[in-house]
Amino acid sequence: MSCCTPKAPTASPALETGDIRDRVRERYAHVALTTGEAPCCGTDCHPVEASEAIGYTADELASIPGDANPGVGCGNPTAVAEIREGETIVDLGSGGGIDCFLAAKATGPNGRVIGIDMTDEMLERARRGARDGGFSNVEFRKGFIEELPLDDASADLVISNCVINLSPDKPRVFREVYRALKPGGRLVISDIVVTEALPEAVQRSIEAYVGCIAGALHIDDYLDAIRAAGFSEVEVISKNSYGSIVTADRDLVARFAAELGTDAASVGRWASAVTSLRVRAVK
Ligand SMILES: C[S@@+](CC[C@H](N)C(=O)[O-])C[C@H]1O[C@@H](n2cnc3c(N)ncnc32)[C@H](O)[C@@H]1O
Repeated sequence: MSCCTPKAPTASPALETGDIRDRVRERYAHVALTTGEAPCCGTDCHPVEASEAIGYTADELASIPGDANPGVGCGNPTAVAEIREGETIVDLGSGGGIDCFLAAKATGPNGRVIGIDMTDEMLERARRGARDGGFSNVEFRKGFIEELPLDDASADLVISNCVINLSPDKPRVFREVYRALKPGGRLVISDIVVTEALPEAVQRSIEAYVGCIAGALHIDDYLDAIRAAGFSEVEVISKNSYGSIVTADRDLVARFAAELGTDAASVGRWASAVTSLRVRAVK
């Protein structure tokens, strides 16, 4: 789950594909420039608590540079990636670098980690963390996840945390990952998907809440896009619905229901469809 304290849903215009990158970049530039209790989705965000809730241990969070975790992930891909010593690991949409730094510890000095992000402010934050933390086996490259700045067959493992849902062209991202992985290389990602198609107004309202739902695919389409890129052994590691988090907040449900002109039961059903997914696949 993204690091978000619920806030009132607000109407927003439908996104054109061409606008998506600019909107996403603006949002994460703002997150990157915010320190401490980062208001990643609006108000009162507590990155450490939010990250523990999605699978990071207190020890992991204490072991990385202070600014590496703005609290915008939705899972902990390194926990299930079975990283081996000496591997070359790529993190798509590396943000403040949280997963790069954890991967760097796991792969050790003979391995390397490449974080890729399109947002200058995030790259600056991550590079500062690498410098301050003495991570000589980590580099951060500017680029789009749809056009990876990587050689063919150069990575052992590609990870990503709550990023691919933001891409306007997810099938292309998976094709790029396939190209950049060595034969036998792994893809291990956390991301947001939906388990039922949501009406557009609902999707926009939930977007105001979770921040990374606007482009979320149906889970079946997401897994199909991974297979269509050429991957085999596509395996769902975990699925966690946002439903109980939303329905636990009666004020939030009432606000969603009022905005959408519906009842609490419908809000609960739609929130339940928004799911944090961890998936593994092999080239
Ligand atoms: C939700 S944040 C996740 C950051 C990090 N993975 C984490 O868990 O803390 C999304 C990040 O992906 C980057 N991003 C989004 N879309 C991208 C794209 N198409 N190409 C490159 N980077 C992208 C954003 O700049 C942002 O830093």
